[in-house]
Amino acid sequence: MNTLECIKTRHSTRKFKSEPVAKELLDTVIDAGRRAPTGGNLQPTHFMVITNPDVLKELVTLVQEEYGKTEVTEQTPPYMVNIIKMSKEGKFVFHYNAPALVVLAHKPVLANNFSDAACAMQNMMLACNELDLGCCWVNQLRHLQDNERLVARLRELGMGDDEKVYASLSVGYPDLPNGLNRRELDIKGNPVTYIG
Ligand SMILES: Cc1cc2nc3c(=O)[nH]c(=O)nc-3n(C[C@H](O)[C@H](O)[C@H](O)COP(=O)(O)O)c2cc1C
Repeated sequence: MNTLECIKTRHSTRKFKSEPVAKELLDTVIDAGRRAPTGGNLQPTHFMVITNPDVLKELVTLVQEEYGKTEVTEQTPPYMVNIIKMSKEGKFVFHYNAPALVVLAHKPVLANNFSDAACAMQNMMLACNELDLGCCWVNQLRHLQDNERLVARLRELGMGDDEKVYASLSVGYPDLPNGLNRRELDIKGNPVTYIG
């Protein structure tokens, strides 16, 4: 697959097989993320690759419990209402039961954290497409980046004392009839102005 085809057909996967991702494939995805450009070439992103099922379950429970504490108000964005409701019912599985979760952490003082994380995420998502893996950007750990419980647990798992989560990616084999998950996105937004 060439690069433009890979960009055009990349598509988020939200249903995964429980089968663990082959180590060499996961390593290739992480390598693609590490090769992404970073502001000032500082290469500050810490890639935490979680494949331990008990740890993944624990994070799901933590997210459910923390989101479940939120009360729905008129200000709650519509997409959050269902997530909060499902969390209160213990049904919200933020990483879609993917067998691998790549958590990107950065030192909070760096100005380009979001941009650096986004470049790494896009590289990893394209690598997944090339390798017939499914993936989905899942933002809940980033939303909880200042949550004391999450921070404490991730520190136990190896996140630096001065690091915070900026993005995370679920990775696994798509649980779909043909085993692949590709499509061309219908582009209705993202306007372009050419000034010639
Ligand atoms: C910054 C960002 C945050 C996202 N957060 C989530 C998320 O928390 N859960 C989810 O299911 N998808 C999430 N997505 C995936 C988008 O919903 C998805 O990319 C978009 O709907 C376009 O669909 P496609 O990826 O299949 O082309 C996120 C994507 C981005 C770029």
